[in-house]
Parts: sequence; C-alpha cells; structure tokens
Amino acid sequence: MSSLSVPKPACLNKPFVAPHRFMFGPGPSNVPQRILEAGANPIIGHMHPEMFEIMSDIKSGIQYAFQTQNNLTFAVSGTGHTAMECALFNALEPGDGVLVAVNGIWGERASDMAERIGAKVNTISAPPGGCFTNDEIKKALSKHRPALMFLAHGESSTGVLHPLGGIGDLCRQYGCLLLVDCVASMGGAPLYMDKQGIDILYTGSQKVLNAPPGSAPISFSPRAWWVFIQGHQNTTTAVPI
Ligand SMILES: Cc1ncc(COP(=O)(O)O)c(C=O)c1O
Repeated sequence: MSSLSVPKPACLNKPFVAPHRFMFGPGPSNVPQRILEAGANPIIGHMHPEMFEIMSDIKSGIQYAFQTQNNLTFAVSGTGHTAMECALFNALEPGDGVLVAVNGIWGERASDMAERIGAKVNTISAPPGGCFTNDEIKKALSKHRPALMFLAHGESSTGVLHPLGGIGDLCRQYGCLLLVDCVASMGGAPLYMDKQGIDILYTGSQKVLNAPPGSAPISFSPRAWWVFIQGHQNTTTAVPI
C-alpha cells in the first residue's frame, strides 16, 4: 500500500505546453526567441565565478537602459511591484513627507503603500488621461515640502506618458528625492535617468523590455543613497559621493 495520501495528479503526466498568444497590453509581452533561448542555458551556482560576471553584466545593461552611472543599480527578483516596494520601503521612514502625483492607479497604489509605511502622504490629482504641469508640481512641492515625490512615467491604466522635463530640477530645488515608475514605459519612450535628475527609477522585465516576468531593474542615485544614510534632512546640500 502506498504511503502517499495525496495521489499523483493526472496533470503531472502531461507535457507542459504554453500556447502562442499575441499580447498587446502593457505586459506581459511576447518574448523574442533569442531571449527564450537564453533561458535554456544551464543553471549555475550563485557562487560560481561566471555568476559574478553575469551579475556585473546585468548591472551594466541596466545602467545603459536607464542611462545612468549610478553604482547602486541592480535587478530585484520579482515583478514591477517588488521594485516599487523596494523603492518606497528604502526611501521612506514613518513620518516622512511624500508627494504622490495621482493620475491613475499606479499613483494610487504608491500612495497606498506609502501610507502603510506610515509616511505623511500628500497627493496632487489629475483626472484619468490627464497629467501635471511643472507649475502645479512646483506649487505642491513648495506647499508640502516632501522628502520624496512619486511620479509614474507611463501610467498604464490611462495610457498617459508623463513629461519629465524640469521635474528633477524642481525636486532638487525643494530638497526632495524624485522617484519615477517606468514599469510600462522603459524601452518604449526616451528616458535619461541622470540627465533628468531622477533619484530612484525602477521598471519590470515583462513589459516593453519583452523578457519573462520575475526580474525588476532598479537604480538609486548617490543623492538617494546619501539620504538613506543621513535621513531626509538637508537633501539640498552637496552629496559627498
Ligand atoms: C506603471 C506600472 N507600475 C507598476 C506595475 C506593476 O508591475 P507588475 O505587474 O510587474 O508587478 C505596472 C503593471 O502593469 C504598471 O503598469
């Protein structure tokens, strides 16, 4: 008599077959053959020397895609939400002020996460399909004096691509970090992390980047890093890094 109380399900006897589907939403997206084949490489250990080279190549690739020199650049294991949590949980302490630009569900979600961290959340809202002028952002920064501002570059719930020009400078002027979600836009629209003064930027592999889900590139500027060490006072002072 078998000692197994749960019998082997019939599905384990069937070969796994995923159908071909055309996917035209923000993601997951169709993965090119070249990338699918890369996934068929042998597994190696996390301490094998080749792994360090692979990790370093991943970092260089993300620095290129984000157009940044940031040393603190890597991929977290998980989907876009994982990087969103990684960004917010590292950048905010309970009581920190955060300004969230809400013009769709991703701003709402960021504000929800920040509230659960215990941050003091202020929002500016635009109707679905709308975005914010730099003047509106400047007024909100000057009124609330947040430690961090969140903006979705590609608000996939409405299809809005938010212009980024000048927002990094405004955030510097008001001593706050700029956090940008580019999960739905990275690879589909120009983005220059360093030139645009973005302090924290994250994306997801399965959207425009056309890779399988489960990897989320993220990068932190030296200014963000410095703030993590020092706390949120004085982000306007020169960063000694
Ligand atoms: C703008 C934006 N941010 C974050 C996410 C979350 O990414 P994921 O579904 O990979 O967790 C999405 C997903 O659609 C998104 O469109």
